Amino acid sequence: MIILKLGGSVITDKTKEGSFRKKVMDNLSKEIKKANKQIILIHGAGSFGHIHAKKYRLNEGFSRDEQIHGFSVTHEMVQRLNSMVLKSLQNNGIPAVSISPHSAVKLDDHKLVSMDYNVFEEYLKKQFTPVTFGDVVLDKKLSFSICSGDLLAMALANYFKPEKVIFALDEDGIYTSNPKIDKNVKLIDSTTIDELERLKTLADVHADVTGGMSGKIETIKNISKLGIDTILLNGNKPDRLYKVLVGEDTKSTIVYGDKK
Ligand code: IPE
Repeated sequence: MIILKLGGSVITDKTKEGSFRKKVMDNLSKEIKKANKQIILIHGAGSFGHIHAKKYRLNEGFSRDEQIHGFSVTHEMVQRLNSMVLKSLQNNGIPAVSISPHSAVKLDDHKLVSMDYNVFEEYLKKQFTPVTFGDVVLDKKLSFSICSGDLLAMALANYFKPEKVIFALDEDGIYTSNPKIDKNVKLIDSTTIDELERLKTLADVHADVTGGMSGKIETIKNISKLGIDTILLNGNKPDRLYKVLVGEDTKSTIVYGDKK
């Protein structure tokens, strides 16, 4: 089984509120179908979630009444994105079912305290493709907060021990420094988590409510500790997802699972 996260920056235009990149999603759906692997799919919120989450400071928990409205708006928008993702998958022959973190996940001060893994397991057994996503959720200490797709990927990897975890991004992988600023960057095609730790501050790309690239490196570190490889690839470039799903070589960054 493979865990795949489609970043919000791939399936949405992060600068325009609520803009779904349907063509990109449809291409990814086709590649997933062609690869014919058992997967759990996670998608980010992109411009359906981050704009309101930031405006209402939802990740900081409850402090003022207007956040209640912000939470509700954000939740509705990410559900809307999720419906479009499901539709694209279905149109391409993938029997996708949505599992909302909203009801399957509980956090306490941003940390995951429980998740209904059984429901993922049952759908997998019955040949469905479970789809979950970054969402606003209840948080014991903070009243509510955000459960990112990366947190879901980490938790699901820990439980299911997949053969690999894949992140589809809007960049080719991880670079030696920030590709949006530095013209002399190099793509790292394979690395270990220890090497990556040293590059962490240099590689920070975009700061959003759920942590940007340095947050992602923390996620990868936890996956690596499980002995599982993580592969980061560009979800906008044709065939790369397909190739990584079936284990063929393509432009990407592989972070080896720690075999110690
Ligand atoms: C964020 O999820 C969820 C909300 C802002 C509600 P992610 O952190 O997984 O989303 P992307 O991939 O960065 O867009």
